[in-house]
Amino acid sequence: MTNAIETSVGALVIINGRECDYFAGCGYLGLQNHPELLAAAADALQRYGLGTATSRGGYGEHPVYIALEEMAARYFGAEAALYYVTAYLGNTILLQGLRGEYDRIFMDDASHFSVRDSVQIAGVPVTSFRHLDLDDLAAQLRGQLRPGERPLVISDGVFPISGEIAPAPDYLRALAAYPGAILCLDDAHATGVLGDNGQGTAEYWKNRAEEAAPRRPQGIVTGLAEMMSAPFQGGAASLVSWTSLAGGPDLVVGASAAARPSEEQAVLSALGVTGVRLYSAHTLSKALGCHGGIIAGDAELIGKLRANAPAYVAHSPSPLPVAAAAAKALDLTRGVSTLRNRLWANVARARAGLRGLGWPLVDTPAPIICLGALPGLDLARIQVELFARDICVAHVTRYSSTPPGGALRIAIFATHTEAQIDRLIAEIATLV
Ligand SMILES: Cc1ncc(COP(=O)(O)O)c(C=O)c1O
Repeated sequence: MTNAIETSVGALVIINGRECDYFAGCGYLGLQNHPELLAAAADALQRYGLGTATSRGGYGEHPVYIALEEMAARYFGAEAALYYVTAYLGNTILLQGLRGEYDRIFMDDASHFSVRDSVQIAGVPVTSFRHLDLDDLAAQLRGQLRPGERPLVISDGVFPISGEIAPAPDYLRALAAYPGAILCLDDAHATGVLGDNGQGTAEYWKNRAEEAAPRRPQGIVTGLAEMMSAPFQGGAASLVSWTSLAGGPDLVVGASAAARPSEEQAVLSALGVTGVRLYSAHTLSKALGCHGGIIAGDAELIGKLRANAPAYVAHSPSPLPVAAAAAKALDLTRGVSTLRNRLWANVARARAGLRGLGWPLVDTPAPIICLGALPGLDLARIQVELFARDICVAHVTRYSSTPPGGALRIAIFATHTEAQIDRLIAEIATLV
């Protein structure tokens, strides 16, 4: 038995011939088998084949990649965007592209492997600060920086196992004392998920900072009905029908595509922080169901990364059908989306139920629920028992941001039904 998944990956999967409720992985919006994404990929495959067989600067440029970047810029409300083959490279591309603009790096010590790898080759001294610990960061900034040196702080936006959200406003305020400071967030688990428009950690904090203020008017209204009622095509062997998800207000309220400050700039002004730059590296491979990484920002930043980051310049991008599907995923989930609202409702339901079983879970919209070690509990046994009951959760011991003693990592999707979530909670209740 390999425990390999025999269907496309979604809220329901078949493993070893058994139908299982799937609470693992990172497909938070469940778009991996959405019919419109499949159609976009199939169309690009027919027209253009698989790929360009070289880097974009080496005659590998293609309208499909350009269209994806334009769509990503609209999605993030930015001037421009950069697409590359994997979000794992995003931090490296940022640090290489910004080389010469920072003198010392300060890294959350639970940061993702991709963050740790990126700082190793940045060519400046690196200091770790204790996980999410503002006081330790402030002390390290004070203790390590010589007069005039510019710090760059780097951290996951949402941590992949713990599900914690980095306190970006605190970091930004601490950095305001150092002219030219930069904060970089690896937003792989926040893209598409956090913020009213799914723009990630920066938007999440901006929305919170603005909570008391009146909301700005929203832009274009497009129909979620179209998205949800497209005929289900079984090509990717999904066990979830998109039509079954219709319900609730069938509206996607799109963010205006007109130029406006990026979420990074908006959060800075919402917090009243000046003199600090904030950049986020996103993924298309998790909530958005496709593949590849995105950095959005002003044209100057994107131009700099495109020109100066060898990690961008010297690789071949993702296959064209994948890029075409990714543009569709961004288009479908742009703006305030019912799909994202459904995800948050599922997250709230799951967090409340699991909190009731004794885990001290904070109430956030992050779709990763981390059940850490509790006295007398054998997490490995619980995972095995759940799998025997056709429920997949991950038991994690070594991945970045795993708390001491390991954890059960539960991923919540927009496509989970309430019945699935309730069964998960009920089965865990019998095991604790
Ligand atoms: C925090 C974080 N950053 C980056 C990545 C790499 O993302 P991708 O798989 O989209 O390349 C991951 C992957 O799991 C991750 O958890």
